Amino acid sequence: MKISILPSLLSADLGRLGAEIGRVAASGADALHLDVMDGHFVPNLSFSPATAALCRKVLPEGFALNTHLMMTNPEAYAERFAQAGSTTVQFHLELRERLNVRALAAALQARGVRVGLALNPETPAEAAYPFLPCADEVLCMTVHPGYGGQAFIADVLPKIAALRERAPALDIMVDGGINRETAALAARAGANAFVAGSYLFAQADMAAAVADLRAVCAAVWGRA
Ligand code: DX5
Ligand code: ZN
Repeated sequence: MKISILPSLLSADLGRLGAEIGRVAASGADALHLDVMDGHFVPNLSFSPATAALCRKVLPEGFALNTHLMMTNPEAYAERFAQAGSTTVQFHLELRERLNVRALAAALQARGVRVGLALNPETPAEAAYPFLPCADEVLCMTVHPGYGGQAFIADVLPKIAALRERAPALDIMVDGGINRETAALAARAGANAFVAGSYLFAQADMAAAVADLRAVCAAVWGRA
């Protein structure tokens, strides 16, 4: 499996946002992770389509922009984030009772955008099974979404293992509380893509930390 490392812009210094996006671009990371919060799905607010457009403007051509919609109505905004230059749009499966997951996934894929299906810590793997055929990746939250800097929830590990068993070739991403120790735990369970906000942005040398995180995860996969 390809190992991917994604710094989350939520932990950036907002006073120097353009420079921080540039720091990610120069870090050797695989994509920039952009967290979008609506104050309903999660008790916080964060970035907008304008931020996605800024990322696209600052990032070099071809650098992936991974947009994580923590919103009650992703169907109303997904197109705007696609338009702004998102490579992947992720939305949450807790909405599956009222959201037409397959239709939204198909609309994004029709315009060349990858689809990520996100699961909160309590949402079981089984919730994703019917939708795996329309997903390019699954995002397992390893904290309760809404804030950076929270502690990794190890109870999510069996779910990652179940998804990996069910879908051996699927990109499985983890998001929340990721550092070199927790990334190794998630990799051992079967994750191959790793979002890290507070850990990577706290490093004086983000490139070295990205390379180190990648090496830690690759070593686990090499052993598997
Ligand atoms: C949390 C966001 C995460 C957040 C992770 O709701 O989805 O992407 O930035 O931050 P850390 O890595 O600090 O837990
Ligand atoms: Zn996120």
